[in-house]
Amino acid sequence: MEFDEIIKDIKNNKTVLQMKNFRQHYDTSCYEHCMNVAKYTYLICKKHNLDYISATRAAMLHDLFLYDWRVKSSKSPRFHGYKHPKIALENSKKLFDLNEKEKDIILKHMWPLTLSLPKYKESFIVTLADKYSTFIETKEYYKHNYKLQKIYRYAYVFLCLLVFRIV
Ligand SMILES: [Fe+2]
Ligand SMILES: [Fe+2]
Repeated sequence: MEFDEIIKDIKNNKTVLQMKNFRQHYDTSCYEHCMNVAKYTYLICKKHNLDYISATRAAMLHDLFLYDWRVKSSKSPRFHGYKHPKIALENSKKLFDLNEKEKDIILKHMWPLTLSLPKYKESFIVTLADKYSTFIETKEYYKHNYKLQKIYRYAYVFLCLLVFRIV
């Protein structure tokens, strides 16, 4: 599949794979989240005849920070939301040769939280794909948890019935 070919070297990189160890949104790891954003970016940019290769590669790298942003540690900075695009860019530059568009995409992906305006259409698309993925990941988590709550409720009722029968 073309999508996998485009990010093959990134998704198999040892450092990038470490993103699997960190949660991004609820049950979704940083790695899965970047994959989701890259997939949406690829589909949208390809459909609109944009530079889908740069956009997809940058989307896969956009959250390359290796710490749990919920936990205060020496690695996790204060104001993570503002600071992590720079961290992701620095980490990505150490591992891959990035073109100007890829750098802009990674650095501006939190727009409008970070004020500086994206320079390319592809950068705007990644900001949207990122927000959309976050929404879907959050929704999936709550949907799954709602199902679990239902199961617990039925199990509780079943246990009560069992106890009453025994008593
Ligand atoms: Fe981010
Ligand atoms: Fe993200």
